[in-house]
Amino acid sequence: MRIAIVRESFGNERRVAATPESCKKLTALGFSVHVEAGAGEAACFPDQAYQQAGAELCSDVKALYGSADLLLKIRPPGQRPDLGDELALLRDGATILSFVWPARSKVLLDELAARGMTALAMDQVPRISRAQKLDALSSMANIAGYRAIIEAAGHFGSFFTGQITAAGKVAPAKVLVIGAGVAGLAALGAAKGLGAVVRAFDTRAAVREQVQSMGAEFLEVSISEDGEGGGGYAKEMSPAFIEAEMALFRAQAAEVDIVVTTALIPGRPAPKLWLRDMVEAMKPGSVVVDLAAETGGNCELTRADEVVVHQGVTILGPTDLPSRLATTASQLYAQNLVHLLTDIGGAKARDPERGDLGLDFADEVLYGATVVHRGQILWPRPAKAAPDAPKVEPKKQSDRPTSDKVGGATERFRQPALMYADRTPGNERGTTAKRAALTWVMAALLTVAYGILKAQGPDTGQDLATALFLERLTVFVLACFVGWQVIWNVTPALHTPLMSVTNAISGIILVGGLLHSKGPVASAPVVLGLLAVLFATVNVAGGFLVTRRMLKMFRK
Ligand code: NAI
Repeated sequence: MRIAIVRESFGNERRVAATPESCKKLTALGFSVHVEAGAGEAACFPDQAYQQAGAELCSDVKALYGSADLLLKIRPPGQRPDLGDELALLRDGATILSFVWPARSKVLLDELAARGMTALAMDQVPRISRAQKLDALSSMANIAGYRAIIEAAGHFGSFFTGQITAAGKVAPAKVLVIGAGVAGLAALGAAKGLGAVVRAFDTRAAVREQVQSMGAEFLEVSISEDGEGGGGYAKEMSPAFIEAEMALFRAQAAEVDIVVTTALIPGRPAPKLWLRDMVEAMKPGSVVVDLAAETGGNCELTRADEVVVHQGVTILGPTDLPSRLATTASQLYAQNLVHLLTDIGGAKARDPERGDLGLDFADEVLYGATVVHRGQILWPRPAKAAPDAPKVEPKKQSDRPTSDKVGGATERFRQPALMYADRTPGNERGTTAKRAALTWVMAALLTVAYGILKAQGPDTGQDLATALFLERLTVFVLACFVGWQVIWNVTPALHTPLMSVTNAISGIILVGGLLHSKGPVASAPVVLGLLAVLFATVNVAGGFLVTRRMLKMFRK
């Protein structure tokens, strides 16, 4: 089967749907790959690299379109300035893999259907755990969030990180991220990496711990209402909640230097969250980057693809952020396509009668992504349960960890923070609660037993020894419990300052160990005392070494 990779023709689009690396993989899947000369140039993939990867370079672009069984693209087929309508260049019955945005591409769907074509929309891949590797929307949103911070830095007149220089002190930039989904968390990570003070707000309580685990502050309103709309997407909030949110943003406006807005509710125009008066309350020189510009913008003053300066505040509404990181965006998207074609079964899935790819709609990923099949429009698809998936009892909201069960399939939350966070506390909450309960019960039992013995009073030397042993055991268990609670309940970002506390505690252990190390060398108290001295010394010395290494990182 012949795959065609063509140059993207929309505006300043620099991405390409296949890289030399992905061409190798497509060839290994049994496809013969044909690339338009210069298709990857803007993304820094030269023609020779494609040739070396086993792809065939084509300069007759019309013939390339006309002979393709599968057309791999990023943007939906449209008008090429040099060749006109891309769809008209394809043969009837061909298959297209690209972003399609079916909700706003009715005409395109009708044309595809009229030509007996098949279209798999990368934007319709269902958000389930198994499909993460082909989730092109998340791949692109992740890049957009990162790039939003770079764009903000380009328009901001100061450092992101705070600095103390010989000439004076520079305060760190304060960044507010509205909407902590895929793009929001990527923006948050990038801003944090540059040293800014970052805070974020989202209507979904599920993201609070992800935000905090990345070292940012999660802002909250006094109204308790969860914005979870299923699958990690948001639902529309009540007017009272929005009012509280607006009050929160008004209070933040005068304080923050950079605002990145990414709020999205599927199928709705972007909610207006950063209003004119908030822009006017910001300090001159502040920057707003509105990622939702394409769907109307989260900021009232955003104009798509324009730079608006209002009372000294710069408002950016870029709609092509992934294209501005064309190399990485192409690599990730191309990899998403390879995964999709692998799941389909590669060239082996060719239908011998029709000559196109045979698609197995029992696979819910293919079921969701196929918007037109052999001339039949399949979008919008009714929700479908995976046929082979076991039935799952609905869970209480409070029991839900980071994934949700819908129709037997695991629907994942869109949370790229998993890539950044050391651990997802949501996953651990159940076990942690059980462990905490167990420790409390043990501590309570020991305290009660100790109390009973104490009340009876030690009659003999043996009773006294038992009472002493129980007393120390109780202190030991309680100390373990407190230590464990302190370490596990402190967010990973604060583990470093926590180390100085543990060093201080190790100092106390060191003194205690020395006090116990008297008497015959082979006796139990001396051996235990010396062991305590040894371990506490390792901890103290290790702590100092790590601190030294960290301080070295800050030395210029
Ligand atoms: P997402 O669905 O993962 O995240 C959106 C977040 O907004 C969710 O966490 C949701 O809970 C939150 N949200 C919804 N209503 C809110 C409210 N009233 N207040 C606070 N938070 C609210 O979406 P993703 O993938 O992160 O995309 C974010 C935006 O970025 C979308 O509008 C998308 O179209 C846009 N985008 C823009 C690009 C560009 O080049 N400008 C490129 C890629 C994505």
